[in-house]
Amino acid sequence: MALAMVASGGAFAAEQVGSAADAIAIARSNACMGCHAVDRKLVGPSFQQIAEKYKGDSQASARLEKKVKNGGAGVWGSIPMPSHPKMSDGDIKTVVAWVLAGAPALQK
Ligand code: HEC
Repeated sequence: MALAMVASGGAFAAEQVGSAADAIAIARSNACMGCHAVDRKLVGPSFQQIAEKYKGDSQASARLEKKVKNGGAGVWGSIPMPSHPKMSDGDIKTVVAWVLAGAPALQK
């Protein structure tokens, strides 16, 4: 399947300032926050831990988008993340870019 639109290059770059709000709304409405917090481990790793782990990894967005969509286990432990087949690719992309940016909160 061609998901090649996940171009390399700076996800969450400066031109996307508005996206933190979108990403947070997506994370909330898809129950991500039931298992993840920004700065501490819950059922899954914190979003900041994830950002730290994949820092500088240009393949990370594509890989994590797939992981959020299909679910899976074994990277952080044996607890699996469920799949999210109903999420749109665009929503997944937005939320993964936000996670990889360290899950910044909204600018005041
Ligand atoms: C039922 C609990 C649960 C929900 C809901 C959940 N996650 Fe996870 N997530 C996990 C667990 C557990 C892991 C660790 C999986 C592993 O070890 O491979 C994880 C891992 C991740 C990772 C890192 C994957 C990797 O391979 O390093 C990302 C990114 C992530 N979650 C994002 C999300 C997003 C975005 C959502 C909402 C759409 C979400 N998660 C919803 C439990 C959950």
